[in-house]
Amino acid sequence: MSLITRGLRVCYGSSLPAIALTSTANKFRPFCRTYSVTQKQVPKKMAAERTLPQIFKFVDKNAESYKALLKEAVAIPSVSCDPKYRDDCVRMVHWMQDKLQEVGASTELRDVGYQTIDDKQIKLPPVLIGSLGNVPTKNTICVYGHLDVQPALKSDGWETEPFDLQERNGKLYGRGSTDDKGPVLGWLHAINAYKGIGEELPVNLKFIFECMEESGSEGLDELLMEKLKPEGFFDNVDYVCISDNYWLGTTKPCITYGLRGISYYFLEVECAKMDLHSGVYGGTVHEAMSDLIYLMNTLVDKDGKILITDVYKSVAPLVESEKKLYNSIDFDPEAYRQSIAAHKLAHNGVKEQLLMHRWRYPSLSLHGIEGAAFQPGAKTVIPGKVIGKFSIRIVPNQEPEEIEQLVFDYINKKWAERGSPNKMRITAQSGRAWTENPNHPHYQAAARATKLIYQTDPDMSREGGSIPVTITLQEASSRNVLLLPMGAGDDMAHSQNEKLNVRNYIEGIKLFAAYLYEVGILPK
Ligand code: BES
Ligand code: MN
Ligand code: MN
Repeated sequence: MSLITRGLRVCYGSSLPAIALTSTANKFRPFCRTYSVTQKQVPKKMAAERTLPQIFKFVDKNAESYKALLKEAVAIPSVSCDPKYRDDCVRMVHWMQDKLQEVGASTELRDVGYQTIDDKQIKLPPVLIGSLGNVPTKNTICVYGHLDVQPALKSDGWETEPFDLQERNGKLYGRGSTDDKGPVLGWLHAINAYKGIGEELPVNLKFIFECMEESGSEGLDELLMEKLKPEGFFDNVDYVCISDNYWLGTTKPCITYGLRGISYYFLEVECAKMDLHSGVYGGTVHEAMSDLIYLMNTLVDKDGKILITDVYKSVAPLVESEKKLYNSIDFDPEAYRQSIAAHKLAHNGVKEQLLMHRWRYPSLSLHGIEGAAFQPGAKTVIPGKVIGKFSIRIVPNQEPEEIEQLVFDYINKKWAERGSPNKMRITAQSGRAWTENPNHPHYQAAARATKLIYQTDPDMSREGGSIPVTITLQEASSRNVLLLPMGAGDDMAHSQNEKLNVRNYIEGIKLFAAYLYEVGILPK
């Protein structure tokens, strides 16, 4: 994944070690810093009383046009993982560039080179960079978001066409509605609202919008660290904000200060150069699928404990002060269980344990097997080559290179124990975990904005998912980074019938406007 992509780290059978790699390990974990900055003494209340209510009214009045624009964005099937949709990804970036220019931003498209898929070079979509306002006395916020989406077909079980945004019962159904087109457009509309009431923006803005996040943000880290940073893009950035996450539940807002990283593996076993008839070859060959299932079954036990030697060793120890945090988080395990119709949750459904295992402990998931006869019907083939896919969500202080090495060593050991004559190969791609200091004035500003919109103090939360570029933005800018969610916990990003509540969209636009306001009055 971008800077963290470890080329291809390959080991054949049990004999060859993984290729050594250059470390991009993150030693910067400003998790425990405290701040004692006092707020700028401005007639904040008075100004807020004038400006924000007008903005909120403007947003309510324009709700239909905001929905229409989201419908336009969703209609572009910018699926980043499938080269078939690469032109749509490029179209999506251009579409967004036009919209940014319409609200007055200056923009630039940056080339990030090529991607290799099946030995073929495919051009990556450009990254959209923008800037709006350059007033030295104002704070500058850098906003990141992604314009690409996960694949979706009606036949997957959608009630309506996934790329045609449909409103039903106060919900906007469509691929990308919550992840991440709704939130990205939210920034546009918040800017538009300031303009609409004739008020100047309280901050300067910088934008980074990409179209490859769902595929590991290839090329983006290099653009940030090797081009934008040396060019001075981050020089006057004071705060970084990403809206690409969700509330924990369905009613209480949150602000997010941590993400897990991800270490993704492709485990390949080959027994023949083509698929074989099991009636002809069954009983005469060492089957690749049996080897693969054997290996995959050594990774995790039925309770989710990862069996890879030493994998928990570098996990940040749980300290007393952190332990207490989980108790006060508003999270209902039973509602969570019911929303996915699971029979029973792990860890006996204990709230604190569930939160810790989503946020601060690693988890290993088996995702699928390429080459398996997964289509309906009793296919009697022996696959010649199968690729098992699994990943570990990694956490502070696990580093990708360390985890990859542990996985390679463990798989090699198990492979040796198996004693198969087949060919085995494992490769990895990883992105780092991220945490931030939630006691920073930036978080307090976002909390005030959230309370203004939702009349309740947000929970300070972490997330189990990953946004690979987050830690790179933290390092490139040396500034506080914050995740400000728009959508709700039941939006079902990546799943069938992904949706964004109309309320979350419209109130989210107001939240972004209020957040810009609150950051605007932080001391420069
Ligand atoms: N928006 C998500 C990240 C996310 C997931 C935030 C869950 C909060 C909760 C993002 O678009 C995403 O899906 N990321 C991928 C990254 C991967 C492909 C490198 C993920 O987490 O699987
Ligand atoms: Mn996302
Ligand atoms: Mn996603």
